[in-house]
Amino acid sequence: MRRALELAAKGQGTVSPNPLVGCVIVYEGTIIGEGFHYKAGAPHAEINAIESVKNRALLTHSTLYVTLEPCAHFGKTPPCALRIIEEKIKRVVVCNRDPFEQVNGKGTALMEKAGVEVITGVLEQEGRTLNRRFFTSIEKQRPYVILKWAKSLDGFMDIQRLTGEKGSFPITGLHTRRLVHKWRSEEDAILVGYNTIIVDDPQLNTRYYSGKNPLRVVIDPKGELDESHKVFQVDTKVVVFTDVQYQEKSTPNKFREYLPLQKDSVGVILESLHQKGVRSVLVEGGRYTLSQFIASGVWDEVRLLTGQKHILTGMPSPDLTLSPVEVTQVDGDRLEIYYNPL
Ligand SMILES: NC(=O)c1ccc[n+]([C@@H]2O[C@H](COP(=O)([O-])OP(=O)(O)OC[C@H]3O[C@@H](n4cnc5c(N)ncnc54)[C@H](OP(=O)(O)O)[C@@H]3O)[C@@H](O)[C@H]2O)c1
Ligand SMILES: [Zn+2]
Repeated sequence: MRRALELAAKGQGTVSPNPLVGCVIVYEGTIIGEGFHYKAGAPHAEINAIESVKNRALLTHSTLYVTLEPCAHFGKTPPCALRIIEEKIKRVVVCNRDPFEQVNGKGTALMEKAGVEVITGVLEQEGRTLNRRFFTSIEKQRPYVILKWAKSLDGFMDIQRLTGEKGSFPITGLHTRRLVHKWRSEEDAILVGYNTIIVDDPQLNTRYYSGKNPLRVVIDPKGELDESHKVFQVDTKVVVFTDVQYQEKSTPNKFREYLPLQKDSVGVILESLHQKGVRSVLVEGGRYTLSQFIASGVWDEVRLLTGQKHILTGMPSPDLTLSPVEVTQVDGDRLEIYYNPL
């Protein structure tokens, strides 16, 4: 099952809105087949694993390990539970039950009815952690929220800009920037407040990593931004949350969509993103935006980077009164990971 979880993780960044799934087929203690789910619409992990087995005659005497309950419905592909039955696989070991309504126990029931021995709940917690975006989306009806920012050694997230000078001030190293672009490629959406766009003029893409670009989301209540900002100059979509009165004046196009912002804005934003099928969002600042998420309590994970510079005076890092769960070094910078205990 650990190997199956390892395989499942390979789909991170391509598989959404589907869950990550890995599968291993074992005959007398030897792995004879492996597979994972790469992309929605592409074959499921179980099918890839079955098809990878050279001697199919061994299947009837093998155990299939899969990280999510095999599906029981005709979606873009036929049900995996049926294929397992057809291949006469005797034993199936499952990590997590699929909370998706069309499956949720039906895959297991189908296999058991056909005489397949099914064992569930193996490494269940590891599976839930791996698929935390998928489970949060189904169970909480909102995207999984990751807050990310960088601070200097003395606790500032930007220099003081008394004369309104523009341009981002790098706090962490180049290696860390590449890691952040990898993180971007792993999530469905990336979100910032409008002042970050005005001050830093970021592109919010993955140019230092070979992954997909996430959907870019900007909170711009009073319509302060215009075409001159880089975020609007790349040919991928930007969703802008704006107060209704400004939304009416804004012209949407192929690459720009305006959505209304009201009170309880964090809740409204997450609800709208959920409706669009966004399973995870990386919130990258600035201070006000991050603080709104922290104050609302609606966040799941924080990735806090500390660079090696002192800034002396500037914009203080948002307050987080928790202890990190993990602390690592990234090329001299410090990375702390926090999970919301609530
Ligand atoms: N070190 C880092 O990791 C990092 C990352 C990003 C940015 N930064 C720095 O942070 C600074 C920008 O931060 P900032 O705090 O000034 O601005 P910001 O968070 O980028 O944007 C703030 C504005 O966005 C709107 N907004 C954000 N969240 C909202 C919500 N939930 N509901 C309604 N409106 C919301 C508000 O607009 P209204 O005021 O119109 O209501 C707010 O004033 C820059 O200096 C930038 O360099 C640092
Ligand atoms: Zn399936």
